Amino acid sequence: MDTQQFDPAAIDAAARALEAGQLVAFPTETVYGLGADAENPAAVAAIYAAKGRPQDHPVIVHLAPEAPLDYWACDIPPQAHALADAFWPGPLTMILKRAPNIPDAVSGGQDTVGLRCPAHPVALALLRAFKGGKGGVAAPSANKFGHVSPTLAEHVRDEFGADGSVAMVLDGGPSQVGIESTIVDLSRLESHGPVLLRPGQISAEAIAAVIDQLPAAPDAAAPRASGTLESHYAPHTPVAMQEHATLLDSLAALHGAGRKVALIHMSDMPATHAALRLPAAPDGFAYALYAALRAMDGQGADVILVEAPPQGGDWLGVNDRLRRAAHGSTGIVHGLLNAQAKV
Ligand code: TXA
Ligand code: MG
Repeated sequence: MDTQQFDPAAIDAAARALEAGQLVAFPTETVYGLGADAENPAAVAAIYAAKGRPQDHPVIVHLAPEAPLDYWACDIPPQAHALADAFWPGPLTMILKRAPNIPDAVSGGQDTVGLRCPAHPVALALLRAFKGGKGGVAAPSANKFGHVSPTLAEHVRDEFGADGSVAMVLDGGPSQVGIESTIVDLSRLESHGPVLLRPGQISAEAIAAVIDQLPAAPDAAAPRASGTLESHYAPHTPVAMQEHATLLDSLAALHGAGRKVALIHMSDMPATHAALRLPAAPDGFAYALYAALRAMDGQGADVILVEAPPQGGDWLGVNDRLRRAAHGSTGIVHGLLNAQAKV
């Protein structure tokens, strides 16, 4: 697996690799993506195999700014054009009805397609070089299924370096947004209105300001989104999220029991086994979150404790990712303390 700094020759080589059906990891402003030619079902299948991802999970198709939406989607509502004008290139994915010519491999057999134009110079150069700017690059986040998304080229190498499944990693530095794109479903506007499938930096309110309708929370019939599985974005070390005061109590008890705590926090905290302090603002916290989870995962701690951020609107995306990272670790702090007591 080659890692290439941003230069025209590397972009060109990456575009040719994609055209030849190979997998190329590339930077976006949200997280790094694991890309394949969206119109080549075998290449898309290789993404699923590399990630260990179930076949029925749809992937987002990334487009150059000039790519015509109506090649990829049909029955496109005016709201989609308005949102593309307002937010593309940028961290917004729209779910639209899939055009009949687009293979269903990218949509996990659903009759919709997820489209996004990323705001990253390397991604845009790649999308413009690939098939003369007319293609689409299917790309989920470049991590193994269920694991923390990568925000550095190095993270991608950590995920796939050993297995030879990825032909090239384009290095575009740290992803500036740090959490995945907002996903809004516009495929069932008449019956359900717009639906927010995944929160991200672009808020429901920002979307409402463009289309005069606030996206609703997902209903039971909403299109399936794998990033919305309860357990996702998880490090190997168990994660618990706690409010400031509870966290202080837990720290004291865990230290007393001889447990190693890795801490991700925003306010003053006592010294512990390992700790990272993140900015106490949603954009700064999101930017640093995944790298922090990876770093704390590597500390040999018994648990990663995260100081719960505020619940307000702009913190929605961060809280969503943290809740999923912590899912499955319910009761971990008590478990560690009780296990210690029995020794
Ligand atoms: O920021 C992002 O969106 C990043 C970068 C690489 O662009 N990509 C990303 O992809 O997060 P992934 O596969 O990890 O998450 C894509 C989400 C999944 O939850 C998937 O189920 C949903 O988008 N999705 C894609 N196409 C869909 C469709 N047709 N219907 C419903 N959900 C869809
Ligand atoms: Mg993902």
